[in-house]
Amino acid sequence: MSNKLRIAVVGATGAVGESMLSILVENGFKDCTIHALASEKSLGKTVEFGKRFVAVEVLEDFDFSQADFALFSAGGGTSLKYVPRASAAGCTVIDNTSAFRQDDDIPLVVPEINADLLEGLEAGAIVANPNCSTIQMLVAIAPIHAVAGIERINVATYQSVSGAGRKGMEELARQTMDRLSFKDVVPSAFAQPIAFNAIPVIDTMQDNDYTREEMKLQWETSKILRDPAIGVNATAVRIPVFFGHSEAVHLETTRDISIAEVRELMHAAPGLELVEDLSPEAQVTAVTHAAGKDAVYVSRLRRDHTHPRGINLWVVGDNVRKGAALNAVQILKTMVGDKMSVET
Ligand code: A2P
Repeated sequence: MSNKLRIAVVGATGAVGESMLSILVENGFKDCTIHALASEKSLGKTVEFGKRFVAVEVLEDFDFSQADFALFSAGGGTSLKYVPRASAAGCTVIDNTSAFRQDDDIPLVVPEINADLLEGLEAGAIVANPNCSTIQMLVAIAPIHAVAGIERINVATYQSVSGAGRKGMEELARQTMDRLSFKDVVPSAFAQPIAFNAIPVIDTMQDNDYTREEMKLQWETSKILRDPAIGVNATAVRIPVFFGHSEAVHLETTRDISIAEVRELMHAAPGLELVEDLSPEAQVTAVTHAAGKDAVYVSRLRRDHTHPRGINLWVVGDNVRKGAALNAVQILKTMVGDKMSVET
């Protein structure tokens, strides 16, 4: 008899879903039973799971009692409809969308920071995976927050097109070719041309004239750091990079802390690589450091010369991996613990 762990990946044909499948394999889940779920239009397709090809099943028809865990990454609307169904069937959900992130009774988890919230959860629990920009910023600043407190953060994000899924990547590729062949560029996934451009609006506008993407940085930072007083003033910008988000972070601590102390904290922090080498060949960029990597990279660490408790950082991370799929798999791994696998 087999009592293999059964995992459903919802949105398995998408950019994040595909990454979830490969990161599951990398993290020791290769012998699990996998259900690859997508919409009806993907019926007949297969997805790769290690050395196996798995046939796509239609989400709408799926019986979630066939899965112990479900990783959702098929959009907020899909999660709102199907996550409660999965949970009611006793399937534990790790949801990568914003559908449940603000619910008080649903933990919002970055394992390096608040894995304690995963203890004692039962089958059918829902855990929310934070937004990509939040995850990488918090991996970088949580060590400072824990020791010196943070009053406020000014952050400008430079976000890659994979954050908008496959259609975002296809649009950048298509528009780049069109521009270079002197053809008209027709925006579709993004409101403005993305090739050779920077778009200062991600997600919908809110009543306060911030975008939802920007406000997620505020809401999720407060919740994860358990710090309602922390202020996050964000501007989120889409740029023509395929993988990896970059962030210019300017923060003010509550208590004095030297840059030397911050350096030490960062070198000891999990999931974080502090790059101190300032030579040209070591410059930290999304393409050279973030894309395809697990760690969040921090560089340009320096005192803000305009504020005695100000600290500046440049933070890059792979938005599809640590910003989404890897963080979800780390949550899964923490919850499963030693109970993993297991053919009997
Ligand atoms: P499909 O490919 O069948 O449309 P991305 O963010 O890269 O665009 O991927 C979105 C993922 O979410 C895809 O796997 C997509 O499946 C899936 N998806 C989107 N809407 C639904 C839905 N209503 N039901 C099931 N899967 C969905």
